[in-house]
Amino acid sequence: MQRDKCGELRREAAGRKVVLAGWVHRVRDLGGITFVDLRDASGIVQLVLRNAAHLSREDVIRIAGTVRLREARNPSLPTGDIEVEAEEVEVLSRAKPLPLSVAEEGLPSEETRLRYRYLDLRRPQMQRNLRLRHRACMAIRTYLDREGFVEVETPMLTRSTPEGARDFLVPSRLARGTFYALPQSPQLFKQILVTSGIERYFQIVRCFRDEDLRADRQPEFTQLDLEMAFLEDPEELFPLLEGLASYVFRETIGVEIALPLPRLPYAEAIAHYGSDKPDLRFGMEIADVSSLFAAGPLRLFAEVVAGGGAVRALPVPGGAGRSRGELAKLEEAAQGHGLPGLAWVKLGEAVTSSFGKHVSAETLSAIAAQTGAHRGDLVLLAAGRPEVASTALGDLRLRLAAELSLIPQDRWALAWIVDFPLFKEGEGRLESEHHPFTSPRDEDLPFLARDPSKVRAKCYDLVVNGIELASGSIRIHRRELQEQIFRILGIGEEEAERRFGFFLRALEYGAPPHGGIAFGLDRWVMMMAGEDSIREVIAFPKTTTGACPLTDAPAPVDEGQLRELGLRLEP
Ligand code: AMO
Repeated sequence: MQRDKCGELRREAAGRKVVLAGWVHRVRDLGGITFVDLRDASGIVQLVLRNAAHLSREDVIRIAGTVRLREARNPSLPTGDIEVEAEEVEVLSRAKPLPLSVAEEGLPSEETRLRYRYLDLRRPQMQRNLRLRHRACMAIRTYLDREGFVEVETPMLTRSTPEGARDFLVPSRLARGTFYALPQSPQLFKQILVTSGIERYFQIVRCFRDEDLRADRQPEFTQLDLEMAFLEDPEELFPLLEGLASYVFRETIGVEIALPLPRLPYAEAIAHYGSDKPDLRFGMEIADVSSLFAAGPLRLFAEVVAGGGAVRALPVPGGAGRSRGELAKLEEAAQGHGLPGLAWVKLGEAVTSSFGKHVSAETLSAIAAQTGAHRGDLVLLAAGRPEVASTALGDLRLRLAAELSLIPQDRWALAWIVDFPLFKEGEGRLESEHHPFTSPRDEDLPFLARDPSKVRAKCYDLVVNGIELASGSIRIHRRELQEQIFRILGIGEEEAERRFGFFLRALEYGAPPHGGIAFGLDRWVMMMAGEDSIREVIAFPKTTTGACPLTDAPAPVDEGQLRELGLRLEP
């Protein structure tokens, strides 16, 4: 049946006959006359019902009626000029008393929201979020299609792709005792696709990672994954990716991003912000004040500097008045990062410090000058291994900026973090900083054999407001180099053949140089929707324990199913 849209009725419709269907958003029963806010996907309109049957919130009804101008208009509704006098009312479906309110603010527990997700998703905010996600995906597809990218699907039942998490395994019935792994990412398939002549590949794709969950992590999440052939330097890729990012921000939420984006080397990000995903919406940069302490006057600090460590300093605007108790709390946080303690300088009426008489007034002013701190500010100092000192201060930088409301909420700060090291220290051996398929920088190749820890990678992260939005690299496209990297990672020839033989062979039949990136789509939409958790932009997410309260997954299976798979559970 032809049906009008609730949210689209305006003054001009007055006098028209309409048929509407939707959910009962609110009911006011005045005895004999009932006002109903009727909601469908387009919005809300007020109905006037006379002598109608009792209606409850979220009942589904269909009405036929006439639009008329309201006596008192409601400026808060787009349809606020009119109401619909219902002549026929049909109840299509009844709703029981609600475990959560669709119409009101105030939310029950996350468990309840997810168990009754069909109600939760009816809330205007969730409707908005899902539509925003759709718009972002449309913008992505439009942009990439125009740039000649082809969307290709890759398998969900596959082999392990190492991205640093545990695999979700699926037992095979036909080949008993063997398992598929759900992809942690389509990394190897996309590299094989460019090798297959799909020079520009993309996919909006589900990835699976069995890891500890947080606000910005889910066990299954969605990537915008892309790869391009004939690239040898990250700079060749950035203009296209920046164009994509700015297009999506503009089309989805109307925000203009200034291009080109800044590039920040990893080492600088760590030194100045204590993080490889710095929030660049505000200052409070960490300064290196090691030189002030190298020749004394404080033995402890001088020893740290002599031993290859650093003294790093964080300015805290307006912090001069912090009490000893407050400073002790900050110190405790720094100790959590493995620092023995935290020193401080207060630029109050008088300049005071935790150093007492040991440090001269000139040194204290030099600290203030190097950190850009002013009268009324506090400077926190950490001495230790350079990375540890900076990371501890970087953590305090974020906490204090949030506490002091110094982070502008209406600003978008995007930056490329580049020149990551290729490897990091793992347990007793080197691990890939990103993944094993990342190309080393050409000029660092000589270090591969001598000192792999010195090798920088051709990889890059896109950081937005302190969140890692995307991560990618130029890849290795020669078998010998790939095998050398496997060896450095402690993956022997036999293991490499067993796990990655299919991929190594693909590199032997004409693999072009290539590179790409993957964006966390859920994180991107979360940020654009102004939400704090990716669960708010995923229709059916998991709880932090990996459960789906709606379906009660994961769940036990029948004994028979296990038998077919040749599996037996340990008691
Ligand atoms: P990476 O592992 O960095 O790179 O993932 C790319 C982006 O995906 C998002 N992301 C997640 N989002 C939600 N929940 C998770 N558990 C989760 N894990 C990652 C992040 C991240 O930046 N194959 C490479 C990409 C490449 O090299 O092209 C990869 O998967 O936003």
